[in-house]
Amino acid sequence: MPETGDRHKLPYTQAVVYETLRLGVVAPTAIPHKTLCDTSVGGYDIPKDTMVIVNQWAILHDPDKWDQPEHFRPRRFLDGEGNLKKLDCWTPFSAGRRVCLGESVAKPELLLVVACLLKRFTISLPEGTAYDPSYKVEFAMNFHTPKPYKIVVHKR
Ligand code: HEM
Repeated sequence: MPETGDRHKLPYTQAVVYETLRLGVVAPTAIPHKTLCDTSVGGYDIPKDTMVIVNQWAILHDPDKWDQPEHFRPRRFLDGEGNLKKLDCWTPFSAGRRVCLGESVAKPELLLVVACLLKRFTISLPEGTAYDPSYKVEFAMNFHTPKPYKIVVHKR
């Protein structure tokens, strides 16, 4: 079974996880923050005590950064030799001083769970059903989770 130390040998599986986090956008507006002083971003003046919401969904679906952003294409994270590429516009854990504290735990853990599941099982949709990427919104607007769906799991 794959172990944490194997992660450098699993670039495609890692790319699948990255693309899932990009397309799925668990936290589309991250956590709202407040400016502590008058400041400016991108030429816009923002006064002290303004609530600032980062539109993660827009960053992760920006057609100027992502070719065909609505398509699931893990290979966008791989270079010509199949190695993982670092893309600055991939920000599902947000960025800056208040970046997700759990990123370094969540990333290897997700890879391990996905790699172990795919090693043991083949997962597909039930015959005659189509992939439904719609989601439900939890905790007001902050978190997206998939709606319930059925899958078929076969032991490999
Ligand atoms: C797929 C998994 C996860 C995703 C996509 C995710 C994403 C995020 C995002 C977008 C933020 C908001 C950052 C901001 O507002 O700028 C956040 C904050 C945070 N996350 Fe995660 N997270 C994940 C898993 C975890 C885990 C496993 C932990 C704990 C072990 C964790 C702990 C935190 C904490 C403590 C914050 C608040 C950080 C702060 O305000 O300084 N997260 N996360």
